[in-house]
Amino acid sequence: MEETGIVTDDDNGSGRRRFLIWATGILVSFSGMIVGIPLIGSIIGSSFRTAKTNWITVGDVGALPIGQPVNLKVVDNNVDAYVREPVIRHLWAVKHSNADVTVLSPICTHLGCQFNWNPASGHFECPCHGSIYAADGTVLGGPAPRRLDTLPTRIENGRLFVEWKQFRSGTSDKVPA
Ligand code: FES
Repeated sequence: MEETGIVTDDDNGSGRRRFLIWATGILVSFSGMIVGIPLIGSIIGSSFRTAKTNWITVGDVGALPIGQPVNLKVVDNNVDAYVREPVIRHLWAVKHSNADVTVLSPICTHLGCQFNWNPASGHFECPCHGSIYAADGTVLGGPAPRRLDTLPTRIENGRLFVEWKQFRSGTSDKVPA
């Protein structure tokens, strides 16, 4: 059939179809970007978050007495989603030498109360249900299911750093909370 140059209904229909296919493709691509970009961001973000550590500067190791538990008040940064706020942590440090310090979590392994050092008895004592621990954290009495939790430490140029971690109470194994 010879081309007449006259626009027919069929020509208009296929033009509309082409336009609709093109517009749908753009819309689908755009929707994919809207869903995909935050998803990729959250996957990448979460892998960075799990790799993050939380080292806190404690201070000069030389200032700690040898063999005597010391309650340390340190400032940690609590990061919850995108909110960062300072939190005071109370830790127990027992120095063995300027190159060796044990830092204990302040949380009783029984049900999570805060225990204290009793200089008269030379033990850590929990006021809640009577768990008793030696200065190195081993259980001496009471319902505590495991020794006190030690925290990772490092000493650089005479300064002590500790990594804050929390563990589940009431279990015989040291499991992250
Ligand atoms: Fe410490 Fe129960 S919470 S003994």
